[in-house]
Amino acid sequence: MKALDGIRVLDFTHVQSGPTCTQLLAWFGADVIKVERPGVGDATRSQLVDMPGADSLYFTMLNHNKRSIELDVKTAEGKAVLTRLIESCDVLVENFAPGVLDRMGFSWEVVQSINPRLILASIKGFGPGKYADCKVYENVAQCVGGAASTTGFRDGIPVVTGAQIGDSGSGLHLALGIVTALYQRERSGRGQKVSAAMQDGVVNLCRVKLRDQQRLENGPLREYSQFGEGLPFGDAVPRAGNDSGGGQPGRVLRCKGWQDDPNAYTYFITQAAVWPRICVLIGRPDWADDPDFATPEARLPRLNTVFEAIEAWTTTLTKFEVMEVCNPLGIPVGPILSMKEIAEDAGLRESGTIVEVDHPARGRHLTVGCPIKLSDSAVEVTPAPLLGAHTEEVLTGLLGYSATELEQLAQAGAFGLPRRAAAE
Ligand code: COA
Repeated sequence: MKALDGIRVLDFTHVQSGPTCTQLLAWFGADVIKVERPGVGDATRSQLVDMPGADSLYFTMLNHNKRSIELDVKTAEGKAVLTRLIESCDVLVENFAPGVLDRMGFSWEVVQSINPRLILASIKGFGPGKYADCKVYENVAQCVGGAASTTGFRDGIPVVTGAQIGDSGSGLHLALGIVTALYQRERSGRGQKVSAAMQDGVVNLCRVKLRDQQRLENGPLREYSQFGEGLPFGDAVPRAGNDSGGGQPGRVLRCKGWQDDPNAYTYFITQAAVWPRICVLIGRPDWADDPDFATPEARLPRLNTVFEAIEAWTTTLTKFEVMEVCNPLGIPVGPILSMKEIAEDAGLRESGTIVEVDHPARGRHLTVGCPIKLSDSAVEVTPAPLLGAHTEEVLTGLLGYSATELEQLAQAGAFGLPRRAAAE
């Protein structure tokens, strides 16, 4: 048994944000039916292609455990099929550009009238307001959500992060909205509209920076390196490089081999509770009682001195040795892991966060499995579907179309069968 057994999701998502959401729902046990344009499918199938003839990793890594049907919803026949799908699904998820669903003829009002229990879940770039009609991609979301202005170094330009907080982050937000709406439906009997805007999601993830914006009005941000360096603050939260976001100052420090290896670094947090142990470790036991270094407050204007001394120690060890020494002492550190190291990490493979799957066209490949573990709902990652692999199965098995009706729909161009037949 899986947590979302019995929940059927009509997946009208594409690219990254929406597919992240529906993939999670599929991992939790929902039957996710991805609706794609005949012969074309999700644009990511043919983006960043590394293996001619096979769906890209961009697509396969975001669409595990789903079924795929081809359906042209711009034809009358396609609309009729879509209506029947809406009748038999619990959730419709979409991340089309603003207005697309309305133009298709499936506005919230229409969807509700077809199936009042349906939850319509949407990702858009912006919430209501002056930018509501804009298209948005990952990096735009990072910029308009406050992440880029606070990422990077003070003397450099704004920087976007590799973590897809705009796309995958919005997918996570939407998934939570959907399961919450499903829970409410248990009592209300009604579906509802769930909206997650990418800008809002990034703002949510940048909450601590809005905290600092308000703190800035009451004085300089003392735990930012800039404070110790005597550099004045402006009127907005500055980029703070690798300063830690919280009250326990931290930095990225060099480790043995840093001259040749771009990832031979560790993150090191000077947690107040273990400061005396850090002092002993780095050969400065005197700092434990020195009034200039003994308390977090005293250290704030001297963070450069503190981290230079710690780095003199970390450069004598590899990033993994730093971890091995610090962990038993309760000192929070973390090696800067490359993607190669992540791919090979035994612990991540054991936990199912990094898994290998067999894809019919591309063979074995690595993917990120479900990062959320439920003790009563195991996840088995299955390959992403080929385009339209389940069209007939869904139309006959779920919607009850006969073989003749299927043929008629195909002739009318509602899905890709005539194209395939012609090709054969
Ligand atoms: N049958 C027929 N037509 C279909 C179809 C189907 N199965 N699926 C999609 N289409 C059509 C739509 O109806 C639309 O046509 P229209 O413009 O004539 O109404 C068209 O395909 C393209 O829509 P869409 O994919 O949304 O626009 P786009 O490719 O130009 O823009 C995005 C892509 C991502 C910018 C846009 O979808 C967007 O802003 N989405 C919301 C925010 C988001 O999720 N962004 C991040 C993506 S990772």
